[in-house]
Amino acid sequence: MSVARRLLIAPSILTADFGALAEAARAAEAGGADLWHLDVMDGHFVPAITFGASVVEVFRRASTLPIEVHLMVSNPADQFEAFAHAGAERLIFHFEATGEPATAIEAARGVGCEAGIAINPETPPAAIRGLLPDLTEVNVMLIQPGRGGQQMMPEHLAKVRTLRTWIDEAGLDTRIEVDGGVKARNIAECAAAGVDIAVAGSAVFNESQTPAEALAELRAALAAGR
Ligand code: DX5
Ligand code: ZN
Repeated sequence: MSVARRLLIAPSILTADFGALAEAARAAEAGGADLWHLDVMDGHFVPAITFGASVVEVFRRASTLPIEVHLMVSNPADQFEAFAHAGAERLIFHFEATGEPATAIEAARGVGCEAGIAINPETPPAAIRGLLPDLTEVNVMLIQPGRGGQQMMPEHLAKVRTLRTWIDEAGLDTRIEVDGGVKARNIAECAAAGVDIAVAGSAVFNESQTPAEALAELRAALAAGR
């Protein structure tokens, strides 16, 4: 029998107003966000460029919530020190961006952070199975990385179910995160698949709701799906 876990909601800020990031940080924290998921893109691993460590510092100053940084960058380990220094607790790099994931995990820990790995839709969970004991988190991408506001590809929740089985069978506490297209209409399905953390970007920062309203809607959808 599985014990119901509390699913954490991690707002991503790609669709927030970049002219008012500190206000966005305070509004989402007051509205019940659990942690920050800050998406860094370098124009190389993915076409777009978002922001660097200075924006992480804005969140470190404006909010008391933990910060994870999702590095959609080539040569991610080269950036670890700067993001650790800016206030990130967890560094998530892409399996596809490094030939030596075990070395990158050590490098993340070496700068005092937890390590997470993200896997793109085409990467099978078996690619990272051997790394699970050393990871705080696996980020399962439900979209192609590169921008916010895309539609979830729910068929990739099968990878979450596989990872959940492996993690539970081995007695690990590695957390499973889903990233991309999480909305009130599908968050309960994510929870049922065994997700620990749901990234929610455009579901939290959009033009029709405040972050507090959006987070309340996500929590209500989770409660209704139980
Ligand atoms: C995309 C990012 C995601 C994304 C989430 O490459 O990794 O974190 O911005 O935004 P939504 O929830 O709008 O898909
Ligand atoms: Zn992300």
